[in-house]
Amino acid sequence: MSLVLAIDQGTTSSRAILFSADMSIVAVAQREFPQHYPASGWVEHEPEDLWETVVEMGREVLRKADARPADVATIGITNQRETVLVWDRRTGQPIHRAIVWQDRRTAELCARLKSEGHEDLIRSRTGLLLDPYFSGTKIAWILDNVPGARARAERGELAFGTVDTFLVWRLTGGEVHATDATNASRTLLYDIHRGDWDDDLLNLFGIPRSMLPEVRDCSASYGMSLSEHFGAAIPICGVAGDQQAATVGQACFTPGMAKSTYGTGCFALLNTGDTPVASRNRLLTTIAYQFGGKPIYALEGSIFIAGAAVQWLRDGLGIIKSAAESGELARDADPAQSVYLVPAFVGLGAPYWDPDCRGALFGLTRATGPREIAHAALESVCYQTLDLLDAMHDDWSGSDGEGTVLRVDGGMVASDWAMQRLADILGAPVDRPEVKETTALGAAYLAGLHAGIFPDPVAFADMWRLETRFLPSLPETLRVEKVNGWRDAVSRTLTHPP
Ligand code: G3P
Repeated sequence: MSLVLAIDQGTTSSRAILFSADMSIVAVAQREFPQHYPASGWVEHEPEDLWETVVEMGREVLRKADARPADVATIGITNQRETVLVWDRRTGQPIHRAIVWQDRRTAELCARLKSEGHEDLIRSRTGLLLDPYFSGTKIAWILDNVPGARARAERGELAFGTVDTFLVWRLTGGEVHATDATNASRTLLYDIHRGDWDDDLLNLFGIPRSMLPEVRDCSASYGMSLSEHFGAAIPICGVAGDQQAATVGQACFTPGMAKSTYGTGCFALLNTGDTPVASRNRLLTTIAYQFGGKPIYALEGSIFIAGAAVQWLRDGLGIIKSAAESGELARDADPAQSVYLVPAFVGLGAPYWDPDCRGALFGLTRATGPREIAHAALESVCYQTLDLLDAMHDDWSGSDGEGTVLRVDGGMVASDWAMQRLADILGAPVDRPEVKETTALGAAYLAGLHAGIFPDPVAFADMWRLETRFLPSLPETLRVEKVNGWRDAVSRTLTHPP
């Protein structure tokens, strides 16, 4: 009884990772599932795809490891955040496809609520902004657009959940309707200061309280997964949104520590301890994790296109065959050219929050080719990270930026070239850990902590191991010149430049 099963239900794939009692990875299983784009700016997932890939990957990882289900002591769940599901409490059947965090269908509703002056209330209670990214307006959309949904919700027949909640509900056979504080903090409905759903916001969005899950700690009991799913009844003891799980997996437990995860997008979180810092720079105030009823807060910067820029090089432009080639191509770019890509393919997230602007390339000459464009794409991720970190350090007086080392994870960090460039553009060191599966490790740790298998956070933090520290090597004058070029490119891309 010493294995821990981490389930990572992400935006493009579901993964199951089995950890041993010493926290090393025993096996990994992963499966992609279809994305649905029923209208421009809409993104949906078929709920049964999410559910089936999770169960199948859980079974597959046990098979791969040749492990007995009875040897799994606990399950930890981490998930794509903000994505919304609404289902019938009696049957467990969703009444609509999951509306994914990237979906922009509620942009108009957000704009209307903003023009009516509701954003200040929302910011002060939830730490978030009025943007379609978050769950609240998506739930309202389902209640307003699925025939009969609102009446059924008012009769208490429907349940809402982010993906973690839906999985817990299904795994426990409808016994447990719960989420954790990190996922709750992304809904636009949760008061992150009082630690409760907020009635004023529920009224504003027209969402009955009866739909909402109970909010628990990240490391807590979430009931038993029925034996029919993985071959044995297994307690679920950990839940956190994926970016928060990565923060835990990177052991960013001390105020001032920051991590940045490079997946489809990039999400940087700075631990601000027990102080929820209100941002002057349109970053998000969110819950990093919660143990023993005590929330620890973070400033978060969310950028929507990071690895997706590399996918664009591969699938859109066809100038590379695999993501791994992007660094090699970029390395050979002509250093005399100053090409900038502003990858605003779906608008820009933090700190600009401009949903209407679109991507642009600047500085093209007759000599510009695939190498320079690959170079600009990878550098755009570095510049966006710099924008987030600058905003964070400006927001948080507890940090002057000195001595703060960014811990990085996610697919893109495999490229040494990209990580060296990141350090150069930040003008600060970048730490890449030995264990790169930090999101899954975080989820496993939360579960194993509650199950008594893994040590307390201080001991866990001691186990974090550096693989490579990338030190900045660019002369400061050149760095400043390059950063100014980026800022100029962004201001020419925004629909309402500052
Ligand atoms: O906020 C969205 C984020 O949680 C999605 O993460 O890794 O599934 O793209 P990922």
